[in-house]
Amino acid sequence: MRRLMHRTFGGPAVLEIVQEPDPEPGPGEVRVRVHAAALNPVDWKIFTGTAAATSRGLEPPMGVGNDVAGVVDAVGEGVTHLAIGDRVFGSARAKAMQDRTVVDVATEALVRTPDGLDDLRASCLVVAGRTAWAGVDRLALGEGDTVLVNGAAGGVGVLAVQLARLRGARVVGTANPRNHDRLVAYGVDAIPYGDGMLDRLRALGGVDAVFETHGTAGIDAGIALGVPQERMVGIAVKGHAGVEGVPTDLGQTGAALAELAALAADGTLDVPIAGVVGLEDAHDAYRVLMGGHVHGKLVVDLLAR
Ligand SMILES: NC(=O)c1ccc[n+]([C@@H]2O[C@H](COP(=O)([O-])OP(=O)(O)OC[C@H]3O[C@@H](n4cnc5c(N)ncnc54)[C@H](OP(=O)(O)O)[C@@H]3O)[C@@H](O)[C@H]2O)c1
Repeated sequence: MRRLMHRTFGGPAVLEIVQEPDPEPGPGEVRVRVHAAALNPVDWKIFTGTAAATSRGLEPPMGVGNDVAGVVDAVGEGVTHLAIGDRVFGSARAKAMQDRTVVDVATEALVRTPDGLDDLRASCLVVAGRTAWAGVDRLALGEGDTVLVNGAAGGVGVLAVQLARLRGARVVGTANPRNHDRLVAYGVDAIPYGDGMLDRLRALGGVDAVFETHGTAGIDAGIALGVPQERMVGIAVKGHAGVEGVPTDLGQTGAALAELAALAADGTLDVPIAGVVGLEDAHDAYRVLMGGHVHGKLVVDLLAR
């Protein structure tokens, strides 16, 4: 099988495709024939050797990516809830960008893909969907709330704004003006980020909660507008002004992924895909992602040859 991997930390140029034997699932594991693997910023934060790698004890040589969708094609001893042929999506930590991967079903979330949800979109729900779901849940959003989503057009933001709207909240989302029409279509009040954001938020009547996906500006604006610390989450810069990230409980992740998949399968949740590439172009897709202005998700199609 083909496997995207790197032997040293570095930019996308360190990524290479190697041929390896298919991995075999051990006890408690299943093997997935990967059809789609979505990209996340944490992938490049790991392969470039930032704290995202060192804090997890990750050292090359190692694989790339986390989010997979495909079909179970081998089942290890003791796994009874999944069978060969089941469509699944979930986490394969540092081993997503390869034709086959092995997942430990006790420690990594892997759930069934419902009919009506294709593999490309299913793969987009794993890290971004779980994070959007957990952030909106932690903020306990509902009718009468107005939430600021700073960085509303990215992989997490575009799902967070929709989940917040589904819970009845008013959403103010920041994005580059070229993305405003897409946010307005979700019922979002779209404003530019950057200089003057606080004045724009005041002009809209302020906010009760903040989901910060980009840096710290949304949290600083929330503080200026009197939003309590417990009604803010910050996923890009953890701990700014004491504001926490999102919880990563595995049981909750499985339930969240199943709920997100059902919403996406029936069309309630839009999962915008910015681009699909073959494995040989994954390094270029990471370069684009590292530019920081992708709307929705970039995905590697492992079936494209
Ligand atoms: N569990 C976790 O803690 C967790 C999980 C997922 C992600 N994250 C982190 O959260 C961040 C966002 O992830 P993602 O997947 O959504 O990234 P992404 O898909 O790359 O989206 C980035 C978005 O940031 C927006 N942006 C760029 N400059 C901005 C600015 N100055 N102010 C506000 N928004 C700006 C861009 O919007 P425009 O195109 O409109 O400019 C773009 O859509 C990353 O740092 C990622 O590592 C953490």
